[in-house]
Amino acid sequence: MEESRRTEQVVFLQKLKRLIVSFVCCLPMSLLGLLIMLLLIYNSFSVFSLYLDPIPPIKPTPSLYQHQVLHHHHPSISLPSTETLTSSSKSDSSLLLAVKETSSGLVQKPKGKSRESFKTRIKSFLSKSSCESLFFMTWISSIESFGDREWFTIESLFKSHPNSCLILVSNSFDCERGTLILKPFTDKGLKVLAIKPDFTYIFKNTSAEKWYERLKKRMFSPGVIPLEQNLSNLLRLVLLYKYGGIYLDTDFIVLKSLTNLHNVIGAQAVDVVTRKWSRLNNAVLIFDKNHPLLEKFINEFSRTFNGNRWGHNGPYLVSRVVARFNTSSSDLGFSVLPPSAFYPVDWTKISRFYRASANESEVNWSRKRLMHLRKHSFAVHLWNRESKKLRIEEGGIIHQLMSDSCIFCNSSSLHSTY
Ligand SMILES: *[C@@H]1O[C@H](CO)[C@@H](O)[C@H](O)[C@H]1NC(C)=O
Ligand SMILES: *[C@@H]1O[C@H](CO)[C@@H](O)[C@H](O)[C@H]1NC(C)=O
Ligand SMILES: *[C@@H]1O[C@H](CO)[C@@H](O)[C@H](O)[C@H]1NC(C)=O
Ligand SMILES: *[C@@H]1O[C@H](CO)[C@@H](O)[C@H](O)[C@H]1NC(C)=O
Ligand SMILES: *[C@@H]1O[C@H](CO)[C@@H](O)[C@H](O)[C@H]1NC(C)=O
Ligand SMILES: *[C@@H]1O[C@H](CO)[C@@H](O)[C@H](O)[C@H]1NC(C)=O
Repeated sequence: MEESRRTEQVVFLQKLKRLIVSFVCCLPMSLLGLLIMLLLIYNSFSVFSLYLDPIPPIKPTPSLYQHQVLHHHHPSISLPSTETLTSSSKSDSSLLLAVKETSSGLVQKPKGKSRESFKTRIKSFLSKSSCESLFFMTWISSIESFGDREWFTIESLFKSHPNSCLILVSNSFDCERGTLILKPFTDKGLKVLAIKPDFTYIFKNTSAEKWYERLKKRMFSPGVIPLEQNLSNLLRLVLLYKYGGIYLDTDFIVLKSLTNLHNVIGAQAVDVVTRKWSRLNNAVLIFDKNHPLLEKFINEFSRTFNGNRWGHNGPYLVSRVVARFNTSSSDLGFSVLPPSAFYPVDWTKISRFYRASANESEVNWSRKRLMHLRKHSFAVHLWNRESKKLRIEEGGIIHQLMSDSCIFCNSSSLHSTY
């Protein structure tokens, strides 16, 4: 009873403050100064906390980004972007708006009983945190299957992006146990939210909406591939389309900040003769909100979904769609980064990177590879499907990269050294 009365009072005070603030904005400067002083005394700074809220940092200019791209790039697969500026500033301002809307309310919504919606929780997470970049991961399997290696992907992500936010969209993590698993990060002040997807809301207003309706009504066969995997392929596209940011699979070691990259997708393989990309991958996607390429990906998914063909709705899909672009035209609005950026190790050769060197020539080879990775790669995709059974041997390349990129440095695979 008393609680709710106090809440009402606070709400009233808030309204009053907002009124005063909007009034103040219309006054000439001298009067304004006087009023501010009065207000300071009266309200002991609380009014101005409105203005002291951290504002999301402005993203770097496209010229910086283009420099980055060129630097990492073979010219034939460089597809310069013209839309970077407009669309990235768009998403900045929408984030800013969200911050303003909710930060003026000091009143916390009541917790418990009725779970807040996906939309509200994401909005509230983003408004509470100032996110240098926004990362998304998806985990649509059981929490038991989330192991040390997946955990390490998050650890390495935060090592290079301590001021970024991570939204882990997951059916299984959005519970007490998931919170506990992520607690070491949140205890350190790192910003991570595990949230159960509301597919109906997420897919709304995209071409995936109808696809999902048909799926729910079982109007087509889901196929032999686990549905989770395909939903994850779609989910990443739609999340980036709706929110903008960086999508990352859970089998990476992140080596460097991705903050300066905008609207990029990574090539996994390059044709040795033409030097053009031959296969793209969707394990990392960095896109502004509402990016037209994402829309094309989503449309393609809904149109050509095939639950029986591995990769068809994922890596092959993004390759298929991008291949339709005329790469000699200069206004595609996105760039394809070379394999060295995210997929520096071919999945057929990954085991070598887990092993310790056996003799001097291997030591030399490892040293050279490691130097190259540290210099040219943003992240290393580990192809968990191939590598999860491999032991991480001490002194091997993966072991050394993990030592570079750890925060807690106690992953069981690092135990031998720490
Ligand atoms: C879908 O679009 C309608 C009309 O533009 C809009 O009112 C609604 O908020 C949108 N819904 C979502 C979930 O984006
Ligand atoms: C989901 O994806 C997996 C792997 O890509 C595939 O084997 C499976 O058939 C797909 N199933 C559905 C319903 O998409
Ligand atoms: C691709 O774009 C270039 C330059 O804009 C143009 O000259 C060329 O004809 C286009 N090719 C195709 C196949 O559309
Ligand atoms: C080093 O070890 C590798 C793998 O065990 C072997 O293939 C290679 O011949 C060895 N090289 C030398 C110089 O001993
Ligand atoms: C390894 O590198 C060192 C120094 O760069 C060189 O002296 C040595 O000959 C190399 N060994 C082999 C087996 O390549
Ligand atoms: C590593 O340390 C963190 C934080 O202290 C802890 O929560 C986590 O369980 C540890 N992990 C392992 C594998 O020991």
